[in-house]
Amino acid sequence: MEVQSVGPNEFLSIDGPASIRIIDGKLYVLGAEYGPGSSFTVMRGRRIVAKSLGEGKIDVVLGPEGRIERIDGTNEVIDTWDRALSTIQLRNSVIVVLGAMDVGKTTVTTILVNKGVMGGLKVGVIDGDPGQNDIGPPTTVSASIATNFITHLTQLRNLRSIFVKTTSIEHVWDYVLNSISKLVNELKHGHNVDAVVINTDGWISDPAAVKFKLEMIKHVSANYVIVIRRGDEVNELLKGLASITINTIVLPSPSNARIRDRDDRRIRREMGYSKYLMPSRELSINLREKPIVNLPLFNGLRYDNYITRLIRRSLNVPIHYIEQWGGVAVAIGDVKEFQVKNLGDVSIAILPVNWERGLLVALEDRDNYLLSLGVLRKIYYNTGKAVISIPKSFNNEDLVDHIRLGMIRVNDNYEEIEKTLYIGKIESLLSSQNISRKQ
Ligand SMILES: Nc1ncnc2c1ncn2[C@@H]1O[C@H](COP(=O)(O)OP(=O)(O)OP(=O)(O)O)[C@@H](O)[C@H]1O
Ligand SMILES: [Mg+2]
Repeated sequence: MEVQSVGPNEFLSIDGPASIRIIDGKLYVLGAEYGPGSSFTVMRGRRIVAKSLGEGKIDVVLGPEGRIERIDGTNEVIDTWDRALSTIQLRNSVIVVLGAMDVGKTTVTTILVNKGVMGGLKVGVIDGDPGQNDIGPPTTVSASIATNFITHLTQLRNLRSIFVKTTSIEHVWDYVLNSISKLVNELKHGHNVDAVVINTDGWISDPAAVKFKLEMIKHVSANYVIVIRRGDEVNELLKGLASITINTIVLPSPSNARIRDRDDRRIRREMGYSKYLMPSRELSINLREKPIVNLPLFNGLRYDNYITRLIRRSLNVPIHYIEQWGGVAVAIGDVKEFQVKNLGDVSIAILPVNWERGLLVALEDRDNYLLSLGVLRKIYYNTGKAVISIPKSFNNEDLVDHIRLGMIRVNDNYEEIEKTLYIGKIESLLSSQNISRKQ
């Protein structure tokens, strides 16, 4: 603990872990003003720039890598951001925050939340970044409602999450789009929030990414878009935005933001899975009653032994289990990798034995909201049961309506060991046959 004096218009760069209590004076931090007696924290690995609004004294507690430093404010974005963001009419608005990786999207989202709270609003927040989700676990888009000042989105209580199967948004962007729209509607109509702020992922430059972001703006009926610009990454996006009618605010990115590399991000996600799932217990689920929505098993047409033998022979692959759904059959066989073979009019999707081991899955309610993440351990084809590791504390088994398979495989330490694409391929096979059971 250390007491420090601060002067008017002084800028403090604070690296977490750190905890600051105001003894005297006032600090501006992420859209909020902290007066005497109030305090805020900065998380490990994060940096926050605060501005002193007058003479004052603060109490500083730093953790192992924590640091506080007085900096020259001339290159700071804090005032520019504040001026630009103050022009937003928050009440009844839906605001989408866009930008590449590490440019400050989550920080700008936090500022908007605090500005709303400062104005007495009930602010809905959506973290639409399944890779680095701060409200819910990785692989989800999640929603919350803020009523207090925050320094990190992680301080918000998760209200609702939707599982989007993977953290690689480019494979599931249309599902992410629908999920975010659904959360916006839920916040607006189910919880009567005054404003919704949407934080997004950093996939921004590809033509598909631009399309995704423009579609999102349309789907959620956004009335403001904030684009954080660092270099040329957002040029195509800005061109796209110019062609639609929307209030667009372009902000500079902080020059000294902390960068997280790929490994940092992966490790953070893995910590996210284990924090969520541990301590865990095993749940046995009858897939005939609570089916896997994106991989039909146990409710289709079973072949008799004679036909199974015939199929085995014509495919020239040992098959252990097979079941048909209209023009698609799902088989488990001695193959190295997922493959699709055609036999007559039927496309047979053949999955390797143990294909399920370690796949992330979601237990969902009847409205497709996440009840719990889980890790699929084993499917027993003779009984139609699945064993899934879930958090020990999970006690909403009655609400589980179905299972949704994800596209990430983890090992026993919750490290990501594979991103599988075949679930997506099976889903498109099914939808081409019009036999997807549930969206
Ligand atoms: N004004 C600032 N000056 C310096 N660093 C900042 C400033 N504002 C935020 N940061 C830090 O920069 C880093 C990136 O910010 P932030 O997490 O908001 O970006 P992001 O675009 O959401 O990143 P991601 O791609 O990981 O989602 C964080 O460590 C954050 O604490
Ligand atoms: Mg972010």
